[in-house]
Amino acid sequence: MRLRKVKGAEEAVNNSVFCVQTPTLYRGQWQSFFAKLREENEEPPAAGPMPLHIEIGMGKGTFLMQLAALHPNTNYLGIELFPSVLFRAIQKIEEHPLSNLRFLCVNADSLTELFAEGEVDRIYLNFSDPWPKTKHAKRRLTSMAFLERYDRILSANGRIEFKTDNRALFDFSLEEVKNSKWRLIASTYDLHHDPVLSEGNIMTEYEAKFSALHHPICKLMIDRPL
Ligand SMILES: C[S@@+](CC[C@H](N)C(=O)[O-])C[C@H]1O[C@@H](n2cnc3c(N)ncnc32)[C@H](O)[C@@H]1O
Repeated sequence: MRLRKVKGAEEAVNNSVFCVQTPTLYRGQWQSFFAKLREENEEPPAAGPMPLHIEIGMGKGTFLMQLAALHPNTNYLGIELFPSVLFRAIQKIEEHPLSNLRFLCVNADSLTELFAEGEVDRIYLNFSDPWPKTKHAKRRLTSMAFLERYDRILSANGRIEFKTDNRALFDFSLEEVKNSKWRLIASTYDLHHDPVLSEGNIMTEYEAKFSALHHPICKLMIDRPL
């Protein structure tokens, strides 16, 4: 992806309270990390353990911010590689702070250093970079290499939800799932016209952009191998 560097972004991300600065410290401890945030914000403690949902490649964070506002009893972490992109999300959350949402500026290939076995309940992958060259297939976030990482951090009932307008990436992803032990729960080649899967759909920035260009949006949901 071509990226315009935003002046001051790196510094803002490195100093933001909304971006977890040394996330590996919290591996296996995310439940207490968020409980402490609630306490600091003088919010009542959660009734029990809160599920942890993450988005990988969160971009500017619109999707996660809406989701976190709608579901105060779920904790959310957004993962984004580039400070220039994350900077935009930080600007937004500063206007509407949420104690159940934080960001990590890291590469998703380090997932198992960030989360303990079974610590994550759901992974969202939205409009992941397609990496069209075959020699880069392992970098695709739905490649077998990534599915194996997800399997190590997801809880027994863990789920992955993936959306894209890129048909080649979607077909590749379905094929990877077929060749693995993951269980395909649902899929569509036209999310916005699917009466069941479109219910409660929250559009991401890329989704809004591509659906305005009349690109059909594909979605699949898979459950962890039994
Ligand atoms: C095409 S954008 C989609 C942004 C957003 N999810 C949306 O749907 O609007 C993909 C994002 O994933 C990020 N990304 C790609 N590979 C990543 C990786 N390995 N780790 C973390 N973020 C990654 C990119 O920097 C980019 O912001």
